[in-house]
Amino acid sequence: MKNIVVFASGTGTNFQAIIDSVSSGKIKANISGLIASKPGIGAIKRAEKAGIPASVIPPASDSFKSQLEDQLHEWQPDLMVLAGYLAKIPKNILEKHAGKIINIHPSLLPKYGGAGFYGSRVHEAVIRSGDSETGCTVHVVTEEYDQGPVLAQKKVPVKPGDTPADLASRVLNEEHKLLTEVISQIINN
Ligand code: GRF
Repeated sequence: MKNIVVFASGTGTNFQAIIDSVSSGKIKANISGLIASKPGIGAIKRAEKAGIPASVIPPASDSFKSQLEDQLHEWQPDLMVLAGYLAKIPKNILEKHAGKIINIHPSLLPKYGGAGFYGSRVHEAVIRSGDSETGCTVHVVTEEYDQGPVLAQKKVPVKPGDTPADLASRVLNEEHKLLTEVISQIINN
């Protein structure tokens, strides 16, 4: 059985979609653990409920790199999934696990990606631009934010009068499907 390690910084609905897909057998893998960037986030509560170990490793701490290395050594991931994770993965880990770390981003990259484009800022920028469509992207993680090779994208319409919250919720719904689909393809192949 392959091991997945999920990284999250927030509510964790993408993490929940992965948990549910593992339970239903859509993703045939084991979730070895959750790396959380701060205590008290929704993703940790979801891990507890599902009986998945969670490790809080604040990216700003001096020991971030070594704690992360130790935790990954223990959990032995075949695939790492950044599911709403707002920190950079250290270079040594990217090199050691090259091509095996993926991220979900709530826009059609390369549009609205890179430093500063996270959370509602992405959807606010889409609405300001007047674009008639947006979407989500799953890509391989590299050293620069949101710039690695794209694995899959799903388009979502922008409707007249949409607020950033409307768009966020429409996109998030598709994120859950796209992310679990890509993970199952990677794991099952
Ligand atoms: C998602 O929109 C994801 O694309 C972005 O942060 C949000 C996280 O949502 N990176 P959740 O924590 O999975 O609910």
